[in-house]
This record gives sequence, structure tokens and C-alpha cells, in this order.
Amino acid sequence: MLGGIQFGILAACVVLFVPMGMAGYHLSRNKMLFFSGALFITLAVGVHITPYFPSVSDFVSSVQSVVVFDNREDSCINLVNEVVWDLTPVVNTHDDDDDDDNKSSSSSSTSSTSSDDSSSSSSNGTVYDKNWSWSGTRKVKACEFQRLTKSDASDLLNGSWVVVAGDSQARLMAQSLLGLVLDAQRMDSIRGDLFKRHSDYEIVIPEIGMKLDFIWAPYVANLTDLMVKFKQNRSYPDVLVMGAALWHMLHVSNASDYGLALRSLRSSVVSLLPFSPELGTDGPVTGSVSVRSPHLFWLGMPMLINGMLNTEAKREKMSDETWHAYNRELRDSRLLRRSGGPLLLLDIQSLSWNCGPRCTLDGMHYDGVVYEAAIHILLNALLIESHQKLGAT
Ligand SMILES: *[C@@H]1O[C@H](CO)[C@@H](O)[C@H](O)[C@H]1NC(C)=O
Ligand SMILES: *[C@@H]1O[C@H](CO)[C@@H](O)[C@H](O)[C@H]1NC(C)=O
Ligand SMILES: *[C@@H]1O[C@H](CO)[C@@H](O)[C@H](O)[C@H]1NC(C)=O
Ligand SMILES: *[C@@H]1O[C@H](CO)[C@@H](O)[C@H](O)[C@H]1NC(C)=O
Ligand SMILES: *[C@@H]1O[C@H](CO)[C@@H](O)[C@H](O)[C@H]1NC(C)=O
Ligand SMILES: *[C@@H]1O[C@H](CO)[C@@H](O)[C@H](O)[C@H]1NC(C)=O
Repeated sequence: MLGGIQFGILAACVVLFVPMGMAGYHLSRNKMLFFSGALFITLAVGVHITPYFPSVSDFVSSVQSVVVFDNREDSCINLVNEVVWDLTPVVNTHDDDDDDDNKSSSSSSTSSTSSDDSSSSSSNGTVYDKNWSWSGTRKVKACEFQRLTKSDASDLLNGSWVVVAGDSQARLMAQSLLGLVLDAQRMDSIRGDLFKRHSDYEIVIPEIGMKLDFIWAPYVANLTDLMVKFKQNRSYPDVLVMGAALWHMLHVSNASDYGLALRSLRSSVVSLLPFSPELGTDGPVTGSVSVRSPHLFWLGMPMLINGMLNTEAKREKMSDETWHAYNRELRDSRLLRRSGGPLLLLDIQSLSWNCGPRCTLDGMHYDGVVYEAAIHILLNALLIESHQKLGAT
């Protein structure tokens, strides 16, 4: 981009100073006007024919990719998190088994994913039907976001390598994604393995050639280590979802330390990207996957409902002030795309805030339906990004 500006300044100098220099050689005023006009036309024509020269158009398109990366205005990608909730109490509630059956058959979504105990009842026993959709404002409607069916999602993710790394929120995301692409029976058979505490999980779904890795990474430092491993292996996932905050909040409770960790993660993510300026010094990355840039997402922190947290330590360490301090560090780290960084936010904060206390039992982990909404947000963002890429070539 600097190159373009410098070129412009150079051109302006040429138009201005070459005729003035000629004036020094005692050319008449008419001749001077002629020369400066001719120069201007030459430059203008030059600018317009550059696309036909491959090396120049390479340069121009590399500038364009930076512009797309930076463009934060007027794009549906900024509206993709705008989800509204509709919680309606389910009336007949006497027999528990009945409730669960009613719930799963009446719910419009493919919510075989949500674990039965947490998806339906709130703490005082009232059962809610939880329904979400994208907000109905004109701008959001124009983006035509949609819930993807199992087969749409399978098409979109066909042949891709998806990595979800982080804490228990990330594990819930992995579960929701699998719940969308697997049938209920297969999902039940893997649920135990997926939920082994504090462990990684790997699954290949041969029907769609998709590989999903869940990587247990409770701290941001663990995510940074993961970036280093990707770089060493020279293999990058097509879709990468990361998020970690709550462990640090509980066990370290130092927002500025969290901020430092985020900044270091940011620089290692940036150095991973094929089109990043930092990569220029290392030379181009080889390998087939790395030619495409991976799709990168950050899983935001959920709202914490302090009174519902289940230990004294959590209620003390995970206060509202600490939450806000951690959130400020996230913003200031410029990790997210909205602040000029590489990762698109999956806004668990607003999803969990809008779904509210009826959608959580422990004030921290929310019902499956919240993460299911986040998965559809991710898939719609992927759709938008792949369209943009198609449009650009
Ligand atoms: C408890 O149930 C009543 C309806 O019976 C409802 O109005 C109230 O909001 C519920 N409280 C919570 C915390 O969910
Ligand atoms: C709830 O679901 C119904 C039908 O499934 C839909 O028409 C309505 O817009 C939804 N409302 C919200 C807020 O999600
Ligand atoms: C996935 O892609 C392969 C070819 O790349 C195709 O043969 C297969 O049918 C696709 N599967 C799905 C579920 O779309
Ligand atoms: C994550 O990082 C912490 C602190 O750096 C370290 O103690 C822990 O072993 C790491 N965990 C994993 C799973 O890598
Ligand atoms: C890196 O490669 C090794 C060996 O092929 C593999 O075991 C490991 O899982 C890879 N790590 C990542 C993060 O891809
Ligand atoms: C918080 O972390 C920062 C940076 O790691 C460190 O300089 C500071 O001493 C820590 N504060 C406390 C109270 O531990």
C-alpha cells in the first residue's frame, strides 16, 4: 500500500517539476503546458493499462488482499453475530421424561447436540423453548444469513481440516459442530470421548472427508504453542477456532498478563498467515493448504453470572470487574478483526447475554443451543468469506 502512495507522490512530482525544469531551459509557456499535459496523459494511461501487465497486477492484487483484510465497513461479516432470542415457557411440566421428548420434537433446530439436562430447564424448574434467529433489521435481513442444514454444512466443510482449540467453551463448540454434521446415533457414541476432561480429541468423518481436532488449550500460551507447532509442521487447518480466558481469570487473575499473552498470540498468528507482511522475510511457505489463508475465529468469553458460579473461588476471582478488565485486554490486544487483527469474533458474550440466566445452570457454561447458534454464525461467516474469495478471482 505504501508503494502505491509513493508512486502517486512521485507521479505528482514528475508532473510538477519536469515542466518547471523545462521552463529553466527557456521553453515558452505554451510548450510547457504542452509537456505537462502530455506527461499527465501518459501517467493516466499508464495507470489504466497496468492491470494488463502481470507483475503489476500481482502487486495490485496483493494490495487488494490487504484492503479486504482491513475492510471493516459495510460488510455482512460485521453483522453476522446479530442474533436475537425468543424464550417461551413450555406449559405442561409434570413428567420429566415427557418434557424432554416435547422439547426435542418441538424444537425447530437439530438440537440432538444439546445435552438433555442443560438445554431445557432453568434453575427453578420452568422449561423453556429456546429459539434464536438473526435480528430482523433491514441491514441484517439483506445479508440473508441462514441456518445451514446438515447437507449444506457437509458440503461447505467437505474435505477440510477444522481445529477447535481452547477451554471448555471451545469443547462445547466442537460438540455443536459435530452435532450438526453427524447423525444423532454417531453423536451419542462419541460424546463420552469428546467430553473426557482436559484431553484432546480427534475425529475423521470419512463421508465428507472432514477432520476435526479439538485441542485442550486452557491458556492463551497454549494457543501460542499450537501456532508454533503449525508453523513447524508447515500444515495449517482450513478453519481454526480458538478461545481461552476463564482459566487464566480463575488461576492467574491478572488482566495485564492476559493482555501480554494475547499480544504474543496475535504476533504468532500474523506470522502464520500467508499474506502477512512479516512472512516476506521468511520466504514463501510451501505446501498446498498454506496457499489459501486459513479462516480464523476467536471464541469470545461468555457472560459470567456471578451468583450462579458454583465455587467460592470462582465467585471471588471471576467478578464483573475482572471480566471487564479481561475484555478490555482482548480489545486492546488488536487480536480481533474489528480492531485490525486477524481473527473474527464469535460473539459468545452477546449470545449468552441475550439468552440470559435461563440458558445456564452454572453461570458460565451455557446451553447447547447457544453454541449451536455460534456454529451457524461461523458457517455463515465462512460462506461470506468464500464468496468474497470467489468474487475476487
Ligand atoms: C421461575 O419461574 C417463573 C414462572 O413460573 C418465572 O416467571 C421466573 O422468571 C423464573 N425464574 C427464573 C430465575 O428463571
Ligand atoms: C422462533 O421460531 C419461529 C418458527 O420456528 C420463527 O418464526 C420465529 O421468527 C422465531 N423467533 C425468534 C426470535 O427466533
Ligand atoms: C465431497 O467432495 C467429494 C469430491 O471432492 C465428493 O465426491 C463427495 O461427494 C463430497 N461429499 C459431500 C458430502 O459433499
Ligand atoms: C498450557 O500452558 C500452561 C502454562 O504455560 C502449562 O502449564 C500447561 O502444561 C499447558 N497445557 C497444555 C495442555 O499444553
Ligand atoms: C505436527 O506433526 C506431527 C507429526 O506428523 C503430528 O504428530 C502433530 O500432531 C502435528 N501437530 C500439529 C499441531 O499439527
Ligand atoms: C501481572 O502481570 C504483569 C505482566 O506479566 C506483571 O508485570 C505484574 O507484576 C503482575 N501483577 C501481579 C499483581 O501479579
